[in-house]
Amino acid sequence: MSFIEIQLRSPLATLRLGRKLGALLLAGDFVALTGGLGAGKTQLVRGVAEGAGAEAATSPTFALVHVYRGGRVLLQHLDLYRLAGPDELFALGFDDLLAEPAATLCEWSERAQSALPADRLEIALAIAGPRARKMQLSATGPRSNELLESLGVANQKG
Ligand SMILES: Nc1ncnc2c1ncn2[C@@H]1O[C@H](COP(=O)(O)OP(=O)(O)OP(=O)(O)O)[C@@H](O)[C@H]1O
Ligand SMILES: [Mg+2]
Repeated sequence: MSFIEIQLRSPLATLRLGRKLGALLLAGDFVALTGGLGAGKTQLVRGVAEGAGAEAATSPTFALVHVYRGGRVLLQHLDLYRLAGPDELFALGFDDLLAEPAATLCEWSERAQSALPADRLEIALAIAGPRARKMQLSATGPRSNELLESLGVANQKG
């Protein structure tokens, strides 16, 4: 499966990549977002919501799940930062969320570990400067691979 690393030189660059992704996502797609505080995960989701034509994305840190309607696809935005453990994931109805006819974007996805769907687009963000971010994208299955190829981003590593 593919692995791509790119540099995002400004918040706008991250927003733009999100917009591209938002134009591609279909119900059932899962995007697993990792990277520390302020890495740009929510910024990316903001772009996805714009690209899908849905209502504006906000940080779901206190809500765990936000749903954005009105776009070409229903979007579910999860933030597992405050997740206490697997029991809470169960209480949150994570499996039910995965069965929703929506595309899902999940911040701090590593906290869901084995509960994550097998085929997911993994996006890892890292701070590379005040306005720069490194983004690593990888696919774990056929659908996420298709998404990654459709994004049309070229590897900038090396
Ligand atoms: N290239 C960039 N891409 C994205 N955000 C950037 C970039 N450069 C600077 N920033 C800034 O970094 C911050 C990223 O915040 P954001 O809420 O998206 O992070 P996050 O990964 O969701 O963090 P958290 O884990 O706290 O939810 C914003 O204030 C944004 O303006
Ligand atoms: Mg966030």
